[in-house]
Amino acid sequence: MGKIADPGLAEEGEKNFLWAKGHMTALSTIASKYATKKPLKGVTVGVCLHVTKETSVLVDSLLIAGAEVKLAAANPLSTQDDIAAYLSTRAEVWAWRGESGKDYDWCVGQVVSSKPDVIIDDGADLHVAANLKRTPSVLGGCEETTTGVLRVKALEKDGKLGYPIVAINNAKTKFLFDNRFGTGQSTFDGILRATSLLIAGKKVVVVGYGWVGKGVAKRARGLDANVTVVEVDPIKALEAHLDGFLVANIGEAARYGEIFVTCTGQKHVISYSAVKSMRDGAILSNAGHFDVEIDVKSIMDEAKSVKQVRPNTDEIALPNGKRIYLLGKGRIVNLVAAEGHPPEVMQMSFANQFMSALYVYKNHSKLQKKVLDVPPEIEEEVAMSTLRSLGITIDRATKEQLKYAESWALE
Ligand code: ADE
Repeated sequence: MGKIADPGLAEEGEKNFLWAKGHMTALSTIASKYATKKPLKGVTVGVCLHVTKETSVLVDSLLIAGAEVKLAAANPLSTQDDIAAYLSTRAEVWAWRGESGKDYDWCVGQVVSSKPDVIIDDGADLHVAANLKRTPSVLGGCEETTTGVLRVKALEKDGKLGYPIVAINNAKTKFLFDNRFGTGQSTFDGILRATSLLIAGKKVVVVGYGWVGKGVAKRARGLDANVTVVEVDPIKALEAHLDGFLVANIGEAARYGEIFVTCTGQKHVISYSAVKSMRDGAILSNAGHFDVEIDVKSIMDEAKSVKQVRPNTDEIALPNGKRIYLLGKGRIVNLVAAEGHPPEVMQMSFANQFMSALYVYKNHSKLQKKVLDVPPEIEEEVAMSTLRSLGITIDRATKEQLKYAESWALE
């Protein structure tokens, strides 16, 4: 925790915060509307997000609306220490890069113990902890990511959900942009910073063709890689095929792939048996929320040696004489080896988080203790505010057109 108190680091963090805020005006314009009324005055918001410059703009927005913020990281390796140091001048922060598993649980536990009224989470570790500890202070929450939404739905199914949760990931203004364009770009940002290798001409294997996989495959193609998609869902596999990608099973793709990116949310989609058949020098990376997609433990159990050859790049010598390179220890490569999604994309996800937190706080007594969608009015405001921030104007349907669209008559 020592670095948090470093004033030099906090100053650097403030510069990065200001840079992000300047590129997230859709969010800051929405937040500024609440600066006078302060609807979150006296409200404690417990936050578990990747501690990045973009997250600092969401925290700033919550503070502008009057909240007290308690923040832990959503991943032990994703914290930007300068941002943690800066935010600790304005909120209570339990986050540093390189937390052990025990530290990580402790930090999340600190947020639960701070008796939050509202929870904003990414991955659902904080929701799971708060619900299993039956934290009565919590009136409602929001969940950022695909994996987290699946986990809170499982809590709901098991009758363990104690408050309503808005599924931010289900908003079009989130998954169509953050999952696809955000992860697409930031994953290659991470791979490039970790390896500094050429992507053009490489055989890139994308495992999973949901919104994240689609974004990663598209960016790989844009960098002139030869892209293969691996899928278990026949419809998504067909979609990948008609989008012009090679489609193969992991057994085939493992033999020729040079860079692998997992994007499934599922465990062990790259097993040790696949790794054994890979070519010498193959690079493994993960773009999913948890470090379960590559079976790192089995690989490490079999490894003859492991050495770090570059920041965030470990060389693993296999018993068959081949070397495999694992990026970011198999954790989310865009946040471990780079800075996560760019601010222009995160402003949409975090505007949804901000407005949904206000919504769930204001309406909690009327809402069912279920996983709920982002209300359409919020989505509309996020989209319009983002268009405005990008200097884009659009047309409106006329009254006549609206009437025509609702009529069966062709006049
Ligand atoms: N998830 C992906 N990118 C992110 C970012 N820049 N900040 C916070 N969470 C993220």
